[in-house]
This record gives sequence, C-alpha cells and structure tokens, in this order.
Amino acid sequence: MSDSSRTVDDLRTFIKPLAGVDSQQRVKFYDSWAETYEQDHKTMSYRAPHEMVEFLLDNFSGRPEQVQVLDVACGSGLVAKLMVELGFKHFVGVDGSQGMLDQAAKTGLYKELKLALLGTEPLPAQTGMFDVVMIVGALRDGFVPVSVIRELCLAAKPGGYIYMSRNGLKSESGNKYKVCMEKELQLMEEEELWSHVITKEMDKYMIDVFNHREDVQNEKYISGTMYLYRKSLN
Ligand SMILES: C[S@@+](CC[C@H](N)C(=O)[O-])C[C@H]1O[C@@H](n2cnc3c(N)ncnc32)[C@H](O)[C@@H]1O
Repeated sequence: MSDSSRTVDDLRTFIKPLAGVDSQQRVKFYDSWAETYEQDHKTMSYRAPHEMVEFLLDNFSGRPEQVQVLDVACGSGLVAKLMVELGFKHFVGVDGSQGMLDQAAKTGLYKELKLALLGTEPLPAQTGMFDVVMIVGALRDGFVPVSVIRELCLAAKPGGYIYMSRNGLKSESGNKYKVCMEKELQLMEEEELWSHVITKEMDKYMIDVFNHREDVQNEKYISGTMYLYRKSLN
C-alpha cells in the first residue's frame, strides 16, 4: 500500500506516536509526513484552511494584491494556495519543519520561507511588517505555545489583522490550552495591543483521528474556533 492511499483508520494508527511528544519531536514527525501531508489531510477532511479563508473573505476589506501576508506554521502552503485564489500575492512563510517548508517552496508562492521552532526560537519576522498574519492548524497543545501569540501581534503592522484558528479537541491538555489562549487574548486586549474583531466557531475542523471508539460514528468531526484581532494603531 502506498502512503497516499491511507484510510482514516490507517491515519489514526500513523499519528499515534504524536501523542504527548514535545514540539521538537513533533516537527521531526512532520518532516517525515511532508510528502503525503496534503493527501492525508484530504482523507481526514481537514477543513480548517478552507474555513479560515472563508472567514478572511467575510472579514477583510483591503486590496488583496497589496497585502503582505505572514503565514505562520505554513506547513505545505495550503493556506497560501487558497488565498492566492482571492487575489493575495505576497507571502512569507514560517514553519518548524524543513520537510514541510520544502513542500511549501514547491508552490512557488512564498517570497521567503523561514525555519523556526516557535516557542523555543523567536518568530523570524520583522516587527510591524505584515498587513495580515495567519496561523492555521498549529495553535494547540504540543504545537505552537500560547506565548507566541504576542509575537504574531508584534509582526503585524499597526492596524493589521491577525487571523488564528484553534482545534477544539476535547482533552485535558486541549482544554487547558484553550483557557490559557483565551486568557492571553483578553490580556493583550486589556493591554491595548489589539482589539477583538470577531470569533467564529466551525463545526468541521477535521475528522477526529485522535480518538476512536467503536460505539461512536467513525467519521466524527472535531470542531474548532477562528479568532480575528486588529493590532492597535499606536
Ligand atoms: C497541521 S499543520 C498546519 C499547516 C498549515 N498551516 C495548514 O493548515 O495546512 C501544523 C504545522 O505546524 C508546524 N509546527 C508545529 N509546531 C510548531 C512549532 N513549535 N514551531 C513551528 N512550527 C510548528 C508543523 O511543522 C506543521 O507544519
């Protein structure tokens, strides 16, 4: 069986070693996953990038062709590929996995691609440079830590927008991450670093490949949440 013909059940087994690993081991895992990442995510009905780009379409009024986009945890470039269809042209990508960055490079969409293990290394982005900062599929326990959210805001231009998605996987560490993240979002608003624009729930982030119970429908979906903040002008 070739990797690209994995089923949802195969993927459940495949990603099991990811449980409880640190972010360094996790990005190594993504290195080995990079070549079949998109095909496997299609199999898992990974909807987060599509949902995020629809969210962007509903909540962005600038001229896309002039916008500088920072795609954080860009992976293979799924988000940029969808944004290009809306007229966005200028992308810088950051990821902790060289394998994923190599896939992103093949899209030919990114002006620059930078390797950084976020949370351990600083976000390699110029302060106040980007009109739009995106992070899809990486704000969760064991991936990009909550502390990086301030760096996302720092990278945005005054008045720039920060689009973030979080998966709603129900677990003790997932719930802890949610509480910690929402506390940080609120704190940053109190510090007048940014203002909240809108939050939207999504029912279908992706098929739940993390939990499997015979008595529950096989293709049960994980929900998710998208957040939009606008950086303060001063
Ligand atoms: C589920 S993929 C999402 C990729 C892309 N945004 C998408 O929606 O297809 C998660 C990505 O986050 C990256 N990642 C996870 N933890 C990271 C960290 N601490 N620093 C940098 N990248 C990280 C992985 O290498 C992987 O490419």
